[in-house]
Amino acid sequence: MAPEIKYTKLFINNEWVDACSGYTFAAYAPHDGSVIAQVAEGDRADIDLAVTAAKAAFHRDSKWRLLDASARGRLLNKFADLIQRDAQYLGELECCNNGMNIRMVLGIVQKGVNGARYAASLADKIQGDTIPADGDLFSYTLKQPVGVCGLILPWNAPILMFVNKVCTALAAGCTVVVKPAEQTPLTSLALAALLKEAGVPAGVVNVVTGFGPDAGAALTHHPDVAKISFTGSLEVGKQIQQAAGKANLKRVTLELGGKSPLVIMNDADLNLAVTWAAHGVFGNQGQMCFAASRTFVQSGIYDTFVKKAVEFARNIKIGNPSDPNVDHGPQVDGEIMNRVLAYIEKGKKEGARLLTGGNRIGTTGYYVEPTVFADVEDHMTIAKEEIFGPVQCIFKFETLKEVIDRANNTNYGLASGIFTKNINDALHFSKHVEAGNVWINTYLASTAQTPFGGFKDSGVGREKGVDCVEEYLEIKTVTISLPKTF
Ligand code: NAI
Ligand code: MG
Repeated sequence: MAPEIKYTKLFINNEWVDACSGYTFAAYAPHDGSVIAQVAEGDRADIDLAVTAAKAAFHRDSKWRLLDASARGRLLNKFADLIQRDAQYLGELECCNNGMNIRMVLGIVQKGVNGARYAASLADKIQGDTIPADGDLFSYTLKQPVGVCGLILPWNAPILMFVNKVCTALAAGCTVVVKPAEQTPLTSLALAALLKEAGVPAGVVNVVTGFGPDAGAALTHHPDVAKISFTGSLEVGKQIQQAAGKANLKRVTLELGGKSPLVIMNDADLNLAVTWAAHGVFGNQGQMCFAASRTFVQSGIYDTFVKKAVEFARNIKIGNPSDPNVDHGPQVDGEIMNRVLAYIEKGKKEGARLLTGGNRIGTTGYYVEPTVFADVEDHMTIAKEEIFGPVQCIFKFETLKEVIDRANNTNYGLASGIFTKNINDALHFSKHVEAGNVWINTYLASTAQTPFGGFKDSGVGREKGVDCVEEYLEIKTVTISLPKTF
């Protein structure tokens, strides 16, 4: 049964309002494709209203700008308390609308709480430098919020994306307009209600639900938006960076997915490696930006690893994601499911060895079998493009030197991993792999304290970690002339 849906309107200036057009769009449950809510369909006109509210809330005399930095931190901690209070409800809502299994989603909500508290702790630690400038001068820097930020969210972990982006921007003192993904509008609205309850002044946080080419594009083109933070596809990331340079020169943070290599050396703890390789690519049905979508296995253990990987995939428990025993739910929608199935067909056609899975499950909902391909070669489409589905691609290699070159032979550079007992191999790999994250004898380990982001086409800038607020700040240098003599 769907959890109660309390909010379906736009959230602008702390009010719930219909879209100017009066239009709505459907939100679905990917488990069975049923409609669970009709949500306001915001477009350019609504984005204009939301940006106007956010701009007013950013005025130097506004309630928000006059708050002490420590009060911003307390507000974010209050928000964290409210997420914790409503964790079960938020988790059920996300599970229903997005298809992530309930155990994983509750873990993600907890990560959201941690993220909000971490951002809260940074709010009053934003400080500049005193600088020994040449000449009879005294210089210092102020770090000031960049302004109105447009935050464009993906559908694969909406709660975490909302919390991390919004809380970092608010810790810095910015105001925001959030545009959730059209597939998953509901938890962003529920979180907006919690921000209001926490006492965030009107206009500081606004949420406009709607479609990418309309509401999303309007935000990226808006002259009063100073910064865009986006997580999603490379294709849209490139469009956003171009749009950001048109009406004004927006600051841009982009997190754009990957084709992340996971390297298993002959001396690895085999069962541990099999388990993490599987979690790394089958978790959330493979809909993870840092999915271990290229598994490179050294020749000495290749056959055994492949056999165990197939066994693991066949034992994954598939079903309704609201069942706490289920590991594997549906893809988020039919379009994404069909994209994944098309990649599987390409893999078969181009000669990769399909060992298990490969099909849609049933005809209701958007389920795809956990799929394992072995003998994948670097030139194949499934070796190069982001599949974003439950498809493990296993490659064979001989030497560490060879595998580092092959791991780096991609336009992406988000995450990577290595399983080995040899510290020298692990450190050599860590130094030379072109990726924003390297995991050694584990995978997916990312916390509020650790910076996250990509090299190359995987993005621009970093989220989380102690420097994350810098992405939402401008540095102002103040220089004072000192008298030469007394
Ligand atoms: P997408 O990049 O189109 O959507 C992500 C967000 O961008 C949504 O909020 C969407 O409304 C918005 N958007 C779309 N077009 C826009 C535009 N012109 N201007 C401003 N905002 C716009 O991703 P989509 O189509 O949902 O998924 C396609 C593929 O993208 C996936 O199969 C996956 O490979 C990748 N992806 C990567 C994610 C990541 O975590 N890095 C998250 C989601 C998708
Ligand atoms: Mg798209």
